[in-house]
Amino acid sequence: MKATSSPSKTSVIALGVTGSIAAYKAADLTSRLVKAGVEVHVIMTAAAQKLVCPHTFLTLSRQPVITDLWNVPDWRPGHVELAHQAQLLVIAPATANCLAKMAHGIADDALSTCYLAHRGPVMVAPAMNPNMWMHPAVQENCDILRKRGVLFVGPETGHVACGQDGAGRMAAPEDIYHAVLQALEMERA
Ligand SMILES: Cc1cc2nc3c(=O)[nH]c(=O)nc-3n(C[C@H](O)[C@H](O)[C@H](O)COP(=O)(O)O)c2cc1C
Repeated sequence: MKATSSPSKTSVIALGVTGSIAAYKAADLTSRLVKAGVEVHVIMTAAAQKLVCPHTFLTLSRQPVITDLWNVPDWRPGHVELAHQAQLLVIAPATANCLAKMAHGIADDALSTCYLAHRGPVMVAPAMNPNMWMHPAVQENCDILRKRGVLFVGPETGHVACGQDGAGRMAAPEDIYHAVLQALEMERA
């Protein structure tokens, strides 16, 4: 059992959700973090929205969900505002595509643009088919990101949704939750 301390000032995180079948688990992660007193602002990629409804995150986070780079109600785009505001950017699940874009500085949607605009720590929880995870292209992208200081949680080894066994399953929401609280220094290891 780990001790969780209440934050003196509300911690704000940006939670990127990408187009992995594990996207539904990000709802559990959001719920846990909100209960712990973290302000969670979700950014969903277009592929994530095919798998989970933005309204799920709107309700669980009690915050607007960024779903589109071009839907800008304010003078300052939401993804840039959030990049400045968030103490931590967490991407869970992180697809092979998302990791590749991060490694190579591609900014073609709200999440990848937020990543480049964010100056604080970044945490990813990769999730993909084991063959994808073991592909040299993915491994080399992850090496680039690790060298850049990006924190990795998982992936785990086990049975994945596509029916294969191996490494690539997203870390359990509970494990990502504890990693986030530790990164925010809300929890003693
Ligand atoms: C049902 C389904 C499940 C998918 N699951 C994964 C996955 O777990 N990991 C992954 O890297 N790609 C997965 N993909 C492929 C991605 O959705 C695809 O590469 C997409 O372009 C990712 O876009 P994003 O990174 O902007 O979210 C899946 C696709 C489908 C149709």
